[in-house]
Amino acid sequence: MVSVAIDGPAGAGKSTLARRLAAEMGYIYVDTGAMFRTIGLYALRAGKDPKDNEAVNALLPEIELHFAFIDGEQHVYLKEEDVSTAIRTEEVGMAASAVGANPAVRAFLLGMQRDMAKKQDVLMDGRDIGTVVLPDATVKIFLTASPEARAARRWKEYQEKGVNTPYEEVLADVKQRDYQDTHRAAAPLKQAEDAVLLDTSELDFEQSLAAMKEIIAAKLNG
Ligand code: DC
Repeated sequence: MVSVAIDGPAGAGKSTLARRLAAEMGYIYVDTGAMFRTIGLYALRAGKDPKDNEAVNALLPEIELHFAFIDGEQHVYLKEEDVSTAIRTEEVGMAASAVGANPAVRAFLLGMQRDMAKKQDVLMDGRDIGTVVLPDATVKIFLTASPEARAARRWKEYQEKGVNTPYEEVLADVKQRDYQDTHRAAAPLKQAEDAVLLDTSELDFEQSLAAMKEIIAAKLNG
Protein backbone atom coordinates (compact mmCIF):
# COMPACT_ATOMS: atom_id res chain seq x y z
CA MET A 1 0.00 0.00 0.00
CA VAL A 2 1.16 3.53 -0.72
CA SER A 3 0.81 6.11 2.01
CA VAL A 4 1.43 9.82 1.85
CA ALA A 5 1.82 11.47 5.27
CA ILE A 6 1.11 15.18 5.42
CA ASP A 7 1.82 16.97 8.68
CA GLY A 8 1.93 20.60 9.66
CA PRO A 9 0.33 23.31 11.77
CA ALA A 10 -3.33 24.36 11.67
CA GLY A 11 -4.26 26.34 8.59
CA ALA A 12 -1.31 25.41 6.38
CA GLY A 13 -3.78 24.10 3.79
CA LYS A 14 -3.23 20.41 4.52
CA SER A 15 -6.82 19.29 4.23
CA THR A 16 -7.77 21.25 1.10
CA LEU A 17 -4.61 20.16 -0.69
CA ALA A 18 -4.80 16.56 0.51
CA ARG A 19 -8.46 16.25 -0.50
CA ARG A 20 -7.74 17.42 -4.03
CA LEU A 21 -4.60 15.28 -4.37
CA ALA A 22 -6.44 12.20 -3.12
CA ALA A 23 -9.20 12.74 -5.68
CA GLU A 24 -6.67 13.09 -8.50
CA MET A 25 -4.58 10.12 -7.40
CA GLY A 26 -7.53 7.85 -6.56
CA TYR A 27 -6.43 7.52 -2.94
CA ILE A 28 -8.53 7.76 0.19
CA TYR A 29 -8.06 10.99 2.11
CA VAL A 30 -7.93 10.44 5.87
CA ASP A 31 -8.31 13.58 7.95
CA THR A 32 -7.05 12.60 11.42
CA GLY A 33 -7.84 16.07 12.80
CA ALA A 34 -11.51 15.14 12.36
CA MET A 35 -11.01 12.25 14.81
CA PHE A 36 -9.56 14.53 17.49
CA ARG A 37 -12.28 17.08 16.79
CA THR A 38 -14.95 14.42 17.29
CA ILE A 39 -13.52 13.49 20.69
CA GLY A 40 -13.33 17.21 21.51
CA LEU A 41 -16.96 17.67 20.50
CA TYR A 42 -18.01 14.69 22.60
CA ALA A 43 -16.24 16.12 25.66
CA LEU A 44 -17.82 19.55 25.18
CA ARG A 45 -21.28 18.06 24.78
CA ALA A 46 -20.76 15.99 27.92
CA GLY A 47 -19.96 19.23 29.75
CA LYS A 48 -16.35 18.18 30.40
CA ASP A 49 -13.24 20.30 30.16
CA PRO A 50 -11.29 18.92 27.16
CA LYS A 51 -8.06 19.67 29.05
CA ASP A 52 -9.12 17.43 31.93
CA ASN A 53 -7.51 14.13 30.92
CA GLU A 54 -9.20 12.07 33.61
CA ALA A 55 -12.66 13.32 32.71
CA VAL A 56 -12.04 12.74 28.99
CA ASN A 57 -10.55 9.29 29.58
CA ALA A 58 -13.70 8.27 31.46
CA LEU A 59 -15.70 9.11 28.32
CA LEU A 60 -13.55 7.12 25.87
CA PRO A 61 -15.20 3.71 26.38
CA GLU A 62 -18.58 5.14 25.42
CA ILE A 63 -17.38 6.95 22.27
CA GLU A 64 -18.50 5.13 19.13
CA LEU A 65 -16.58 6.78 16.35
CA HIS A 66 -17.04 5.61 12.75
CA PHE A 67 -15.96 6.71 9.32
CA ALA A 68 -17.60 6.37 5.98
CA PHE A 69 -16.36 7.50 2.60
CA ILE A 70 -19.15 8.88 0.47
CA ASP A 71 -18.09 9.92 -3.05
CA GLY A 72 -14.53 9.95 -1.76
CA GLU A 73 -15.43 12.37 1.04
CA GLN A 74 -14.74 11.37 4.61
CA HIS A 75 -17.74 11.53 6.93
CA VAL A 76 -17.37 11.13 10.68
CA TYR A 77 -20.08 9.61 12.81
CA LEU A 78 -20.73 9.54 16.52
CA LYS A 79 -22.98 6.50 16.73
CA GLU A 80 -25.55 7.23 14.00
CA GLU A 81 -25.02 10.98 13.90
CA ASP A 82 -22.97 12.53 11.09
CA VAL A 83 -20.92 15.16 12.93
CA SER A 84 -18.77 16.17 9.93
CA THR A 85 -20.15 19.72 9.98
CA ALA A 86 -20.55 20.10 13.76
CA ILE A 87 -16.82 19.54 14.31
CA ARG A 88 -15.79 22.47 12.10
CA THR A 89 -16.01 25.27 14.65
CA GLU A 90 -13.14 27.17 16.29
CA GLU A 91 -14.33 25.98 19.71
CA VAL A 92 -14.18 22.35 18.66
CA GLY A 93 -10.76 22.98 17.04
CA MET A 94 -9.43 24.19 20.38
CA ALA A 95 -11.02 21.24 22.18
CA ALA A 96 -9.38 18.92 19.62
CA SER A 97 -6.02 20.50 20.30
CA ALA A 98 -6.58 19.96 24.05
CA VAL A 99 -7.62 16.30 23.78
CA GLY A 100 -4.74 15.80 21.32
CA ALA A 101 -2.34 16.36 24.23
CA ASN A 102 -3.92 13.43 26.07
CA PRO A 103 -1.90 10.20 25.53
CA ALA A 104 -4.95 7.96 26.12
CA VAL A 105 -6.85 9.75 23.35
CA ARG A 106 -3.90 9.35 20.99
CA ALA A 107 -3.66 5.64 21.81
CA PHE A 108 -7.42 5.28 21.30
CA LEU A 109 -7.14 6.68 17.76
CA LEU A 110 -3.79 5.24 16.70
CA GLY A 111 -5.05 1.75 15.82
CA MET A 112 -7.88 3.16 13.75
CA GLN A 113 -5.47 5.39 11.83
CA ARG A 114 -3.00 2.59 11.12
CA ASP A 115 -5.78 0.20 10.05
CA MET A 116 -6.99 2.67 7.47
CA ALA A 117 -3.55 2.88 5.89
CA LYS A 118 -3.26 -0.93 5.82
CA LYS A 119 -6.40 -1.43 3.77
CA GLN A 120 -5.99 1.15 1.03
CA ASP A 121 -3.70 3.73 -0.53
CA VAL A 122 -4.07 6.84 1.61
CA LEU A 123 -3.17 10.43 1.93
CA MET A 124 -3.33 11.04 5.66
CA ASP A 125 -3.00 14.43 7.26
CA GLY A 126 -2.42 15.41 10.87
CA ARG A 127 0.36 16.41 13.23
CA ASP A 128 2.25 13.17 13.88
CA ILE A 129 1.54 11.02 10.85
CA GLY A 130 5.12 10.92 9.55
CA THR A 131 6.65 10.70 13.03
CA VAL A 132 4.35 8.32 14.93
CA VAL A 133 1.34 6.96 13.04
CA LEU A 134 3.02 5.93 9.76
CA PRO A 135 6.77 6.12 10.33
CA ASP A 136 7.27 4.04 7.16
CA ALA A 137 5.04 6.18 4.95
CA THR A 138 6.03 6.16 1.29
CA VAL A 139 6.08 9.95 1.11
CA LYS A 140 6.24 12.45 3.97
CA ILE A 141 5.52 16.12 3.52
CA PHE A 142 5.70 18.77 6.20
CA LEU A 143 3.44 21.57 5.07
CA THR A 144 3.77 24.91 6.76
CA ALA A 145 3.23 28.66 6.33
CA SER A 146 3.73 31.71 8.52
CA PRO A 147 1.12 32.23 11.28
CA GLU A 148 -0.01 35.43 9.52
CA ALA A 149 -0.53 33.70 6.17
CA ARG A 150 -2.43 30.87 7.85
CA ALA A 151 -4.60 33.24 9.89
CA ALA A 152 -5.39 35.27 6.76
CA ARG A 153 -6.59 32.13 4.95
CA ARG A 154 -8.67 31.01 7.88
CA TRP A 155 -10.18 34.47 8.26
CA LYS A 156 -11.15 34.44 4.57
CA GLU A 157 -12.79 31.03 4.93
CA TYR A 158 -14.81 32.33 7.88
CA GLN A 159 -15.89 35.40 5.92
CA GLU A 160 -17.05 33.18 3.07
CA LYS A 161 -19.12 31.17 5.53
CA GLY A 162 -20.57 34.39 6.98
CA VAL A 163 -18.66 34.03 10.25
CA ASN A 164 -17.37 37.42 11.37
CA THR A 165 -14.42 36.59 13.60
CA PRO A 166 -11.89 39.46 13.68
CA TYR A 167 -8.52 38.70 12.03
CA GLU A 168 -6.62 39.44 15.26
CA GLU A 169 -8.66 36.81 17.06
CA VAL A 170 -8.03 34.22 14.34
CA LEU A 171 -4.30 34.99 14.46
CA ALA A 172 -4.23 34.65 18.25
CA ASP A 173 -6.02 31.28 17.96
CA VAL A 174 -3.57 30.08 15.31
CA LYS A 175 -0.63 30.99 17.54
CA GLN A 176 -2.16 29.43 20.62
CA ARG A 177 -2.94 26.20 18.77
CA ASP A 178 0.62 26.10 17.35
CA TYR A 179 1.97 26.47 20.85
CA GLN A 180 -0.26 23.73 22.27
CA ASP A 181 0.44 21.35 19.40
CA THR A 182 4.23 21.79 19.42
CA HIS A 183 4.77 21.87 23.19
CA ARG A 184 2.78 18.85 24.31
CA ALA A 185 4.64 15.79 25.55
CA ALA A 186 2.57 13.26 23.58
CA ALA A 187 3.43 13.15 19.85
CA PRO A 188 4.08 16.87 19.44
CA LEU A 189 3.88 18.51 16.04
CA LYS A 190 7.30 18.27 14.47
CA GLN A 191 8.81 17.56 11.10
CA ALA A 192 9.94 13.97 10.56
CA GLU A 193 13.62 13.77 9.64
CA ASP A 194 12.80 12.26 6.27
CA ALA A 195 9.91 14.62 5.46
CA VAL A 196 10.13 17.17 2.68
CA LEU A 197 9.41 20.70 3.93
CA LEU A 198 7.02 22.83 1.90
CA ASP A 199 6.35 26.42 2.99
CA THR A 200 3.23 27.77 1.28
CA SER A 201 3.32 31.32 2.75
CA GLU A 202 4.01 32.80 -0.68
CA LEU A 203 2.19 30.19 -2.78
CA ASP A 204 -1.43 30.15 -3.87
CA PHE A 205 -3.49 26.97 -3.95
CA GLU A 206 -2.53 25.86 -7.47
CA GLN A 207 1.16 26.54 -6.85
CA SER A 208 1.05 24.60 -3.58
CA LEU A 209 -0.72 21.73 -5.33
CA ALA A 210 1.89 21.64 -8.09
CA ALA A 211 4.71 21.65 -5.53
CA MET A 212 3.13 18.74 -3.65
CA LYS A 213 2.64 16.76 -6.83
CA GLU A 214 6.31 17.21 -7.66
CA ILE A 215 7.38 15.99 -4.23
CA ILE A 216 5.09 12.95 -4.45
CA ALA A 217 6.08 12.09 -8.03
CA ALA A 218 9.78 12.35 -7.15
CA LYS A 219 9.31 9.79 -4.34
CA LEU A 220 6.98 7.42 -6.17
CA ASN A 221 8.99 7.39 -9.37
CA GLY A 222 12.40 7.83 -7.87
O1 DC B 1 -6.09 19.57 11.64
P1 DC B 1 -7.17 20.11 12.58
O2 DC B 1 -7.16 21.59 12.75
O3 DC B 1 -8.53 19.58 12.23
O4 DC B 1 -6.79 19.46 13.99
C1 DC B 1 -7.42 19.85 15.18
C2 DC B 1 -6.52 19.58 16.38
O5 DC B 1 -6.40 18.16 16.57
C3 DC B 1 -5.10 20.08 16.27
O6 DC B 1 -4.95 21.39 16.77
C4 DC B 1 -4.29 19.09 17.07
C5 DC B 1 -5.10 17.83 17.04
N1 DC B 1 -4.52 16.83 16.15
C6 DC B 1 -3.53 16.03 16.66
O7 DC B 1 -3.14 16.22 17.81
N2 DC B 1 -2.99 15.05 15.90
C7 DC B 1 -3.40 14.83 14.64
N3 DC B 1 -2.87 13.84 13.93
C8 DC B 1 -4.40 15.66 14.08
C9 DC B 1 -4.94 16.67 14.87
